[in-house]
Amino acid sequence: MSKVRKAVIPAAGLGTRFLPITKSVPKEMLPIVDKPTIQYIIEEIVASGIEEILIINGRNKESIINHFDKVPELEALLRAGGKNDALKEVEAITNMAKIFSVRQNEAKGLGHAVLCAKEFVGNEPFAVVLGDDIVYHDGKPALQQMVEVYEAYGVSVIGVQQVAPDQVNKYGIVSGTKVAERVHQVNDLVEKPAIGTAPSTMAILGRYVITPGIFEILEHTGKGAGGEIQLTDGLKTLATIEKMVAYDFIGKRYDVGDKLGFLEATVEFGLRDQKLGADFRKYLETLLA
Ligand code: UTP
Repeated sequence: MSKVRKAVIPAAGLGTRFLPITKSVPKEMLPIVDKPTIQYIIEEIVASGIEEILIINGRNKESIINHFDKVPELEALLRAGGKNDALKEVEAITNMAKIFSVRQNEAKGLGHAVLCAKEFVGNEPFAVVLGDDIVYHDGKPALQQMVEVYEAYGVSVIGVQQVAPDQVNKYGIVSGTKVAERVHQVNDLVEKPAIGTAPSTMAILGRYVITPGIFEILEHTGKGAGGEIQLTDGLKTLATIEKMVAYDFIGKRYDVGDKLGFLEATVEFGLRDQKLGADFRKYLETLLA
């Protein structure tokens, strides 16, 4: 079985849920405390043992690539000023991983975005990690858990968590048969089912390990929910050809592509921050007293 060596981050969506800021700033560059959301994603990928990363970019998204590029003037300035902690942090961002990018010329959907990774991926299993879903963990990163499930079963793995029954229409939903603790064999997938019609409350949450058979399928997948080429529809077809499992990953997940989810992440990561946490907690307590 091939090792999972590559990850794809689709980041070409228009971010309409987060307008007006996303008119000019990619949502992947919005900071949670002091890091852009995409840096949390790349840190998770690297911590999971994957070092080759392809970012699927769209228009107005150059700042994402710039963030991971070297800035010699800044490094020289920090070095001269003896600001070693800041220097280390800035250098670490550049050295974190091998980052590549490709442009999705039109936001035709997540399935179409993943298809743009075909040449980069080639004929091996790969991870897909969505920037909208940040997962906090104090143990094993969510993606590492997924890779281990891939290594155990040798089939595509879809990351899921349970959501409330009135939230199913926001997600791809998995119908499956339990085969082990936290693992279901996938029988069917449905993208954004109407409330009351979903086969389960197992929602697909932005983490996948997929076999390369998906590419040929996506080439022939038509528009689905929302008039977009949906990854869920491609995976649904793949599940009829190959076995596939859903894995209920451990970790607290935040939907940072949504305004409320973003605020929740900001507050909780702020409270966890080593330098700011205690003062921020005091501030919130005074505010809410
Ligand atoms: P979303 O539907 O959550 O992202 O897609 P969006 O379209 O940017 O956001 P809203 O709903 O309009 O606010 C899930 C992921 O797929 C990427 C997005 O960047 C996001 O990470 N995506 C989506 C693409 O890369 N290309 C697309 O054509 C669509």
